[in-house]
Amino acid sequence: MNRNISLVGFMGTGKSAIGRNIAKELGYDFVDTDRHIECEMGKSISEIFSELGEKEFRKIESKYLKDLLNNEKKVIATGGGIVLLKENRMLLKEKTFVVSLKAKPKTIYYRIKRNKKRPLLNTQKPYKKINQLLRQRKGLYDFGDITVVTDYNTIEALAKNITNYYKSYIAKHS
Ligand code: S3P
Repeated sequence: MNRNISLVGFMGTGKSAIGRNIAKELGYDFVDTDRHIECEMGKSISEIFSELGEKEFRKIESKYLKDLLNNEKKVIATGGGIVLLKENRMLLKEKTFVVSLKAKPKTIYYRIKRNKKRPLLNTQKPYKKINQLLRQRKGLYDFGDITVVTDYNTIEALAKNITNYYKSYIAKHS
């Protein structure tokens, strides 16, 4: 296993906030795949979805994920749908220590409701859509080396726990 950490999980489970803290703790680089794609393409995720469609976005996401995994010592906060492609799940499992984040639909809803930047949740009934997508993606986030519930603890506490677990995992496996 390379020394990379990835965070997978549904939208609003805390991947970016927790990932940024883990990177700080470890002195690794932090990358958010969505922000990286936006920077590289010069377009927002919403623009990519509306101009090229979700299927094309998934291809773009996969390509940039592969590029990012050529390096080590990165903490990668992935987009919530990256797990839809089996090749991405396999690549993450092979090349990173995978942190799977979980949260209740209600928590997700309260975290995302003011942010209009997620095209899939830009609907009249976002709570219903969250539940529908969670059902469709059932099991797809369950390949983590560690699974962490993010409803109740602070970002800092969660990041610290994950970092400690990662350090002991590395010590055991190297
Ligand atoms: C998506 C999640 C988003 C972003 C895009 C699609 C998804 O990332 O990649 O809007 O399909 O779950 P976040 O999980 O960082 O919000």
